[in-house]
Amino acid sequence: MCGIVGSINHNNIVPDLLAGLSNIEYRGYDSAGIAVIDNDGLTTIKRPGKLEQLKQELANQALRSHTGIGHTRWATHGCPNEANAHPHSNDDVSVVHNGIIENYLQLRQWLTAEGFRFQSDTDTEVIPHLISLFLEQGQAPQQALNTALQHLEGAFAIGVLFRKEQDHLYAARRGSPLVLGQSDQGLCLGSDTMALAPGIDRILYLDEGEQACMTRDSFQLLDLNGRAIKRDMQAYTSQQDDQSKQNHKFYMHKEIHQQSDTVRNTFKHTQHLLPELPVDFTRLDRINIIACGTSHYAAMVAKYWFEQIARIPVDIDVASEFRYRSPLLSRNGLSIFISQSGETADTLAALRYTKALGQKTLSIVNVAQSTIARESDFSLQTQAGPEIGVASTKAFTAQLAILASLAIHAADRCKAIQIQESNRLLMEIAALPSLIDMTLELEPHFQLIGESIKDSHNAFFIGRGSNFPLALEGALKLKEISYLHAEGFGAGELKHGPIALIESGVPVFVIAPNDGLLEKTLSNMEEVMARGGRCIVLGDHHSCGNLPLEVESITLPACDKVFAPIIYAIALQLIAYHAALAIGTDVDQPRNLAKSVTVE
Ligand code: AGP
Repeated sequence: MCGIVGSINHNNIVPDLLAGLSNIEYRGYDSAGIAVIDNDGLTTIKRPGKLEQLKQELANQALRSHTGIGHTRWATHGCPNEANAHPHSNDDVSVVHNGIIENYLQLRQWLTAEGFRFQSDTDTEVIPHLISLFLEQGQAPQQALNTALQHLEGAFAIGVLFRKEQDHLYAARRGSPLVLGQSDQGLCLGSDTMALAPGIDRILYLDEGEQACMTRDSFQLLDLNGRAIKRDMQAYTSQQDDQSKQNHKFYMHKEIHQQSDTVRNTFKHTQHLLPELPVDFTRLDRINIIACGTSHYAAMVAKYWFEQIARIPVDIDVASEFRYRSPLLSRNGLSIFISQSGETADTLAALRYTKALGQKTLSIVNVAQSTIARESDFSLQTQAGPEIGVASTKAFTAQLAILASLAIHAADRCKAIQIQESNRLLMEIAALPSLIDMTLELEPHFQLIGESIKDSHNAFFIGRGSNFPLALEGALKLKEISYLHAEGFGAGELKHGPIALIESGVPVFVIAPNDGLLEKTLSNMEEVMARGGRCIVLGDHHSCGNLPLEVESITLPACDKVFAPIIYAIALQLIAYHAALAIGTDVDQPRNLAKSVTVE
């Protein structure tokens, strides 16, 4: 989703702005721009489409400055064109903005009546004009910004330049994250740490409602009411090395192939932390797990684990729906929030809602300093490293590694299973990385299947038990990156309606490990075949060993049935990847999607 960069330092900051924007391309965007300030005033350059368009434009200009802001926009109000791209500037003020200004229509009416002319359809453009209004009334820049902030409703993060203040860069945060960075060269601003200028070794996350005023050498923080507050930067080591594609065509492919390491590291890390986790599972009578998208499917898998292994009842919610159903939360309950980015607006809103009801909260995130991590009572971090591909892969299996460990830990504490069984399950998790490697070696088979469905109009995924959510995830992965229509179903549910969609040759992926439900899953497969569907079974040697000859299958390594979703996820990711590659889509930045969904 939208991304913010900003920089103020002793050198020319234009290359830093572009480097920051490149690093946050992964968030998903449809236009990009920068604004800089120098003796001639504010210069704003923006282009619709990919960052490359902006870079080409800038290559024709000798733009140099010590102070600037930049933005990648993911359209909400107004289509992706040049006028709607950020920064939004008037003669005196330039603004980049993430989030949504909910009262922008009223503000626009007011500012229009005051004589301001709007060039765009965005909610953002009210901000520079509002600030200018207060400048015209004689307020100093900092005060004008502060007054303008009092009039804004909604969630936002902004970076601001003033024509008359060449040596200042301003920022404010309410609801959307912003981080400051510092190096010996100067200060910078980003919507996440990847947006920060190269070489920074200190960072500071703005807290809710805070503002920052930066010069080349220092910064000042202000609270919601404009009062100065003191907080120091923390030491920071950049993870720039992780950001290359190495020998992979797309980040998604690299990330799929990292999963034996990321699952191993996450499991080890979690095992180390669990004894210290301040949750008394013996007193819990219910767990709520709340998340969006792929993280929600991880939650669905975890429901099977917590209920079957630890015998603790679990409710699962899509975060965007959670608050609006007025959920009845148990007094002795725990709410778990899963989010790769740790910034998803719906998940964050659900976390705040739950906390306000007095419930204990635990988050599982991939970004340690994210808002969800910082605002939850406890947080466990997946050790997946930065996930750049918009489609989540390694973060998903790392979430599952944490959730599996947590379910076994809860079962231990509640004495729901014998110690021998818990040790056996832990050994099974420890063996997963080598099974993941074996599954990755099957890539040529997944490639053939993926390529073979590139002209299909529909594809379906079916599974039972904890592989039902995996069917949903397989379908999501395929539609996200290949744009093929795909749906996942509980295998037994097919005949209650979706089977009407089965016609000759339509691919149906049957997730069928030997898990005690195999016979029933294979019966559902027969129902599909009887109607001409093309079944592709993903199973182990047992399930694939006795299939009718006409059924295509790929034999995955045998694994404990409990943890099969982790292994089968790899197969589904590679099938989706190769289908997308054959179709020729932009796998890492699929159309319309954003990595970090920071609006509701
Ligand atoms: C996954 O492939 C998707 N891009 C998306 O569904 C994602 O999982 C969802 O937006 C939740 O994001 P989060 O984990 O960062 O909260």
